[in-house]
Amino acid sequence: MNTSITELFGIQYPILNAGMGRVAFPNMVAAVSNAGGLGVYGAGSNPPEVTRAAIREIRSLTDKPFGANAPLALPNGMANAKVLLEEKVPVINYSMGKGDWIVKAAHAYGGKVVASVNDVKLALRAEAHGCDAVIAAGHEAAGHAGEVTTFVLIPRLAELLKIPVIAAGGVANGAGLVAALALGAGGVSMGTRFWTTQEGPMHENFKNKAVELDVQDTIFSDRFDGIPCRQMKTAAAERMVNAKMLNVLEIFLNSFTIAKELNIPWLKLATSTLSMGPRHVESMMRMSQMLKMHGLTMSSGDLDKGMTASGQSVGLVHDLPSIAQLMQAIIAEAEAVQRRLAGQVPTPVQGGSADSRVHMSSQHQA
Ligand SMILES: Cc1cc2nc3c(=O)[nH]c(=O)nc-3n(C[C@H](O)[C@H](O)[C@H](O)COP(=O)(O)O)c2cc1C
Repeated sequence: MNTSITELFGIQYPILNAGMGRVAFPNMVAAVSNAGGLGVYGAGSNPPEVTRAAIREIRSLTDKPFGANAPLALPNGMANAKVLLEEKVPVINYSMGKGDWIVKAAHAYGGKVVASVNDVKLALRAEAHGCDAVIAAGHEAAGHAGEVTTFVLIPRLAELLKIPVIAAGGVANGAGLVAALALGAGGVSMGTRFWTTQEGPMHENFKNKAVELDVQDTIFSDRFDGIPCRQMKTAAAERMVNAKMLNVLEIFLNSFTIAKELNIPWLKLATSTLSMGPRHVESMMRMSQMLKMHGLTMSSGDLDKGMTASGQSVGLVHDLPSIAQLMQAIIAEAEAVQRRLAGQVPTPVQGGSADSRVHMSSQHQA
């Protein structure tokens, strides 16, 4: 499995975990990297000192290449990106912002930079800014997905860009990996499939729920945090999108807890949010509610009040393996699919698995 992405990062398999804030902790990152992929830490809106400690912990758990994600538009986002540069993280993945300054500084120490994008315009900008690759999230993806599906976005970016494209959104197994490579991607990044593992920090209730859910059980709306975003369909998520107005009192009270968690003085958080204008204020208010619900996904496992980002690929999750088992299963399935596509294995055309659909197409070609 040598691809532009295995070459770029010096890894065995072209598989990354998404740098999920508050989810992709050092143990997940090390497990993915130790299994031959690229583990990516999620700095989210952590206080910068938490991010620094996490990067050092990752280095104590693996000597393999790893990456870290910083969403630049979130509180602490820029400060976290600076920490990643100071710690000389091998692969910096930024999202929600402009990262030309990160590219310049990372390249100076030999680091690689990958921008997360969800449309053609952002991908072209990332290439113009000197990024080494992009992670392109199609409409199926968890979190801030775009309008265009992975099946269309990836081949279009492969036509347009000179840098490698990593496909995100809708990928959860070996067939998805092979399909992404066929569309022109150099690798895949998976979020939902990686949090539904033994290392995923979500409460068992949510992991078991994910196994039960099907491909239609997510909600895509801009009412979660002001930007179109995909979340698991839970009662809380449905209440949030259907609410006539924001609960401003609850948000105000919640803001004190958030300021403490982010280690930012409340007044500074409030004034910096207010200074960004009314649209951003509403977005931050919504995000604060969402973060509270995400917290419940981790701690109490309250299926009524909790909520988490989840892609349509949740319908492809049927078990809760360890990351080492998952990586082995994905590679084994990808190799089987490749053999079948190459016509090496004569197969029946029965059944509804991804593999049998591959047999059908190869028989038609024959
Ligand atoms: C729980 C969760 C948290 C996420 N947090 C982040 C984040 O902090 N930064 C980011 O750039 N993307 C984040 N994402 C989006 C992923 O980077 C990725 O685009 C998405 O998971 C791909 O779709 P999939 O879940 O179907 O694999 C998150 C996704 C999930 C599931």
